[in-house]
Amino acid sequence: MDLKSLIRDIPDFPKPGIMFRDITTLLRNPQGLSYTIDSLAEKCSAMSPDYIVGMESRGFIFGTPLAYKMGVGFVPVRKPGKLPGEVYFAEYELEYGVDRLEMHQDAMTPGSRVLVVDDLIATGGTAAATAKLLEQAGCELVGFAFVIELQALGGRQKLPDVPIVTLVEY
Ligand code: PRP
Ligand code: ADE
Repeated sequence: MDLKSLIRDIPDFPKPGIMFRDITTLLRNPQGLSYTIDSLAEKCSAMSPDYIVGMESRGFIFGTPLAYKMGVGFVPVRKPGKLPGEVYFAEYELEYGVDRLEMHQDAMTPGSRVLVVDDLIATGGTAAATAKLLEQAGCELVGFAFVIELQALGGRQKLPDVPIVTLVEY
């Protein structure tokens, strides 16, 4: 299936010069949605994860059905101040300043095998910060899966040396 044809390109969003790759047009298409989840599951099956970790908010959209399909649990990584329990945190660079991501300290037992899922990798800052959270938790990062990779931004160079699955490249 041609997934790229289901992703809408919106120029100059959220600011001038950015070509926004809009996944809402993929999500609303039943065949596109099921093909996306089935393809990720097939390509990631050899990683044999115990958990899937997804980042707020578009990582939730793909991570949870993928966890269901693969028969494992889902753990959310959230923006600051959203999780009620004790958290680990990791900071990452934005264009202006820094932001942070948080994960519950008791979400997974140390040694768990974890697959990190998001809709898109751009600079790689979000995924690299998530890898740091897993290190703090003593978990084993077994791979990353992204629906979309923006290759020109070189995000994968920021990531630890584990398998990276992508479905659509720009
Ligand atoms: C987007 C996207 C990834 C991240 C990729 O999320 O969903 O999580 O940016 O960028 P990076 O590789 O440069 O870190 P965003 O922070 O816009 O939040 P959202 O999912 O809530 O829209
Ligand atoms: N997140 C970071 N860069 C993006 C882009 N160009 N399109 C959609 N989401 C993004």
